[in-house]
Amino acid sequence: MILISGRGSNMQAIVERCAPARIAAVIGNRAEAAGLRFARERGIPAEVVEHRDFPSRATFEQALSAAIERKRPDLVVLAGFMRVLGEAFVQRYEGRLLNIHPSLLPAFPGLNTHRRALEAGVKVHGCTVHFVTAAVDHGPIVIQAAVPVLAGDTEESLGARVLAQEHRIYPLAVRWFLDGRLAVDRGIVRVRGECEPQFLLAPP
Ligand code: GRF
Repeated sequence: MILISGRGSNMQAIVERCAPARIAAVIGNRAEAAGLRFARERGIPAEVVEHRDFPSRATFEQALSAAIERKRPDLVVLAGFMRVLGEAFVQRYEGRLLNIHPSLLPAFPGLNTHRRALEAGVKVHGCTVHFVTAAVDHGPIVIQAAVPVLAGDTEESLGARVLAQEHRIYPLAVRWFLDGRLAVDRGIVRVRGECEPQFLLAPP
């Protein structure tokens, strides 16, 4: 089950690189989320649970949970899902709810990560797949990829370099989960079995 709000390029990477995993459905919180079209074209059930149709976050999340439960997924993947999820929702899916964030957490939680990385003058930036907990953009880290920040980088050029890595690490993390290889021990994720690196260094 994949939740999106917009373009859906991470969803697309997961659909393309996680075969034979079955995508139970893609749910968008906005009918205009471009990624929904891609899902429909691929024959994946695509649904909309519009957050604007609900009077509160709690009622929206109840409707979202109901839509998820109808499909009984093993895993819920947030892929550019731009709503903060409340504690009840997060607790319900604890241990089977993944998110991707475009920074090397715990640096730069929140929005505008590429701009903030440039403003801070960091030399290395990247992205993180993590289990979702009630604290936004925290939670046990599954895998990270690091990219260099180059002289002359703009928010766009840096963001594109990071996004290419998102498309590598998210499908990998999903496969690890579905293969039963992820164990969380006191907030630390271990990958069982033959060890693939839990971080990737991307060349410039
Ligand atoms: C990605 O950069 C993701 O890390 C962030 O939102 C963006 C979504 O892009 N949470 P897409 O919809 O997957 O193309």
